[in-house]
Amino acid sequence: MLKEVCILHQESEIQHSNIILVGMMGTGKTTVGTLLAEQLSYPLVDMDTIIAEREGISVQEIFRTKGEAYFRDLESRVLEEMLQSTGQVISTGGGCVLRELNRAIMLDKGLVVALTADVDHIVGRVAGDNNRPLLAGDTRERVQTIMEERKDAYHFAHVTVDTSLLTPEEVVPCVLARYRV
Ligand code: S3P
Repeated sequence: MLKEVCILHQESEIQHSNIILVGMMGTGKTTVGTLLAEQLSYPLVDMDTIIAEREGISVQEIFRTKGEAYFRDLESRVLEEMLQSTGQVISTGGGCVLRELNRAIMLDKGLVVALTADVDHIVGRVAGDNNRPLLAGDTRERVQTIMEERKDAYHFAHVTVDTSLLTPEEVVPCVLARYRV
């Protein structure tokens, strides 16, 4: 039997004003977000890029010099600010879902889409990338540990798409089919 790759958790007739992508590192948020933004003629708002631009240093450097708590506070502030606007595709950092307040505002301000992938695909996608401070060291071990820690963290989303066996182009229609404007 084919595994279901796109699961709708909450059907709603509510109109959406943004598409908000959440998910572990390496699940394809930025790549899928870029394609979705192109299709909808929306801007792509990449939260990590905005945070790095504001601080004038990379996310990696923020973690190293100011610590994770500082980054998380900044992340919450940028999220709230970005969600004042509508008509955007927002690609969040993988840990943005960890705060209840962040989850609540996301659910309120758009269609929240969780991208998932299995460990092998995530490791394959993030291998050799030194820009993710939480994956420093043994990448597979780090991915497995974080996935275990966050095993329920992405369940709040309206829609979940398993990107393990899909190309980014195949993920896009799964999301657009649920987006109501
Ligand atoms: C993080 C994910 C990263 C970035 C930071 C922390 C996380 O974003 O925000 O390194 O806690 O999962 P991506 O998911 O875009 O890699």
